Amino acid sequence: MKIVITGASSGIGRALSENILKYKEKAKVVGVGRNSEALRELKSVYGERFEYVIADLTDMSDVYRVVNSVVDFLGTVDVLVNNAGFGVYKELLNHSDEDIYNLLKVNFIAPIILSRELVKYMNRGSVIVNVLTAGIYVLMRKLPIYGASKFGLHYVTNVMRHELKDKGIKVISVFPGIINTEFHKRAGINYIRGGASADSVAKAIIKAIERGGKEVYVPGYLRILKILGPKLIPFT
Ligand SMILES: NC(=O)c1ccc[n+]([C@@H]2O[C@H](COP(=O)([O-])OP(=O)(O)OC[C@H]3O[C@@H](n4cnc5c(N)ncnc54)[C@H](OP(=O)(O)O)[C@@H]3O)[C@@H](O)[C@H]2O)c1
Repeated sequence: MKIVITGASSGIGRALSENILKYKEKAKVVGVGRNSEALRELKSVYGERFEYVIADLTDMSDVYRVVNSVVDFLGTVDVLVNNAGFGVYKELLNHSDEDIYNLLKVNFIAPIILSRELVKYMNRGSVIVNVLTAGIYVLMRKLPIYGASKFGLHYVTNVMRHELKDKGIKVISVFPGIINTEFHKRAGINYIRGGASADSVAKAIIKAIERGGKEVYVPGYLRILKILGPKLIPFT
């Protein structure tokens, strides 16, 4: 399995990279992120089975550089995991221009461009995994642009699934609830305690890739949100 994981340096992306490298002996992973130290550390453990691209996904020239490096390293791609993402914990009208552009670039635009470009190197049976959030089902009043970026990605993920059906490429939507990673501190939230582990999300994603799942909810009981539908009840 040849797999590309954005946001491999931390949290869910790192847990996914490690689970694949530890338990899938023949897998090769290309990890993407800005934190060179974290990515170098993975390389030092997993050697030639792990390559990395230092890239800032707010910079579109970096996004295309990722595509070129991935093709150089892997030739073809079996799985693309669009996982890199971040939040900004602020009321809508307090977001700066930079907040708005960067949230949309990393969480919405980069996954679309990476999918569009890397699909050219995917064969039948390949998979695209988009990490969304269970927060799309509620109204995240203090994460509004983040919520909108993930809602947008949710929409295009569904479109992508239809568009890629004839090519035999599967598309998986991942809806994490509160996960215990750096995400919250980075977003400027300091009251979150507990949450599911990044490892549990990683394992659920691997299971969906292997068994052909379409949607992943972590924790699993959050699937109820789909039945209730996006009522957009105020949450934060
Ligand atoms: N934690 C939660 O409760 C939660 C809930 C729902 C959904 N999610 C989603 O899960 C995904 C992973 O987040 P996480 O919880 O694992 O958080 P995390 O530990 O903060 O990891 C985020 C990853 O995204 C990468 N990233 C962020 N901005 C980037 C940029 N400009 N360029 C390149 N890479 C960038 C980071 O890499 P560098 O630092 O190396 O740049 C890091 O590897 C995100 O899409 C997030 O929205 C998380």
